[in-house]
Amino acid sequence: MNLTVVGTGYVGLVTGACFSEMGHNVYCVDVDESKIERLKEGIIPIYEPGLERIVQNNFQEGRLRFTTALADAMADSDVYFIAVGTPAGEDGSADLSYVIEVAREIGRNLDKYAVVVDKSTVPVGTGERVREVILEELQDRGVDHPFDVVSNPEFLKEGAAVDDFMRPDRIIIGSESERATEVMRTLYADFSRNHDKIMVMGVRDAEMTKYTANAMLATKISFMNEISTLCERLGVDVEKVRLGIGSDSRIGYSFIYPGCGYGGSCFPKDVNALIHMAEQRQLFPLVLQSVHQRNLFQKMMLGEKISTRFGKDLSGLTFAVWGLAFKPGTDDMREAPSIALLHQLIGAGARVLAYDPVAAETARRELPKAWFEEEKLVLTEHQYDALKGVDAMVLVTEWKPFRHPDFDAMKRLMKAPVVFDGRNQYDPERMESMGFDYYAMGRGKQVQPATSSCSL
Ligand code: UDX
Repeated sequence: MNLTVVGTGYVGLVTGACFSEMGHNVYCVDVDESKIERLKEGIIPIYEPGLERIVQNNFQEGRLRFTTALADAMADSDVYFIAVGTPAGEDGSADLSYVIEVAREIGRNLDKYAVVVDKSTVPVGTGERVREVILEELQDRGVDHPFDVVSNPEFLKEGAAVDDFMRPDRIIIGSESERATEVMRTLYADFSRNHDKIMVMGVRDAEMTKYTANAMLATKISFMNEISTLCERLGVDVEKVRLGIGSDSRIGYSFIYPGCGYGGSCFPKDVNALIHMAEQRQLFPLVLQSVHQRNLFQKMMLGEKISTRFGKDLSGLTFAVWGLAFKPGTDDMREAPSIALLHQLIGAGARVLAYDPVAAETARRELPKAWFEEEKLVLTEHQYDALKGVDAMVLVTEWKPFRHPDFDAMKRLMKAPVVFDGRNQYDPERMESMGFDYYAMGRGKQVQPATSSCSL
């Protein structure tokens, strides 16, 4: 089949590349000319395992094309994916201006039957809005072409996006037209070979499914983070509790790892958008609000532990931070817990030596320039360089090289062997026996006993 994918961000580029890998002819369209030129040279704007090879191969073989000319791409294809960003607006709602602009552009150029697919995460009702906008444009032109709008949300994890696309758990197709459903079934046939993974439902149902999936996952994480704080106060090891509850097939082992908060481009934004959808309808989304609040609090937790241990004023102290990306396997720092921690540490006067296997460039681009100029934040080349002379190490992202470090070397390099582990990577007993002062998330050891009667 011949497709157009508008937007070459994480979702659009992975979608376009993976469809071309499956033998479809794909145009990837973006308004950013320099991005399109770089893609033609095989330069991928994001770090995503496996993506570069797929893009380069399919580009060379002519199945994958990059262009800024949407009209040309549309003329040559029958399915148009909208995969542009839906950033959080000021009030927390999803900003649909990019989606609507693409819909207008499609309406201005539509000249045959086509299926318009919403791939971006969009609030319930957006499919109808996209349809209206395209109809308005057709009316303005005085033409009448049939078309269908389909919702086909993505469920891609950053760092595993290619794999997730190639081997999906399910393919959700929100469609109200037999004709469009058949087109989508044909398109996805190769991804649904072994057993039928395609689920057809209404457009609104599909839009809601996407938000609900992300909100449910975020809820599991915030719930476990709250339990981990309670465990810490009760002298209980949350890791034992995690294993104990995960064995219940109704609960499952995934997404119940306590940590220093969820980040990324999806969970925070999608939980907020869902809250906004509820509030707009005069509902009180108490659970969702708590999930969000808990996460804001959780991101402050490492900094709080550090100030309890070292005092509110951290001037004269240096901390190592291992991991800046919001999770392993990506260079993405959007909403990363590391950002909240750096603000707390540097804001309290500390100096930070930070190491991340791939996110250093992102950090240089996105963190305050003054931190680097004044050497309040120094990015190191190697994980052990970040430990030289530090008063404590803080593990924020659970990259694999941090899992089994050389603990003797760590002790030799650090001024004091104090470790704050935001991802429960080490065995507390072993750490203590090696002479570390080790603080994890909810593993029974508190930095200081609570004095207040109630805290989060
Ligand atoms: C997520 C969804 O998984 C994906 O289906 C959706 O389409 C986009 O959003 P992603 O943001 O790439 O994907 O990351 P994910 O691996 O889901 O992790 C999100 C955050 O949750 C990370 O910050 C991670 O560290 C945190 N997390 C995850 C936990 O703190 N505990 C867990 O048990 C799992």
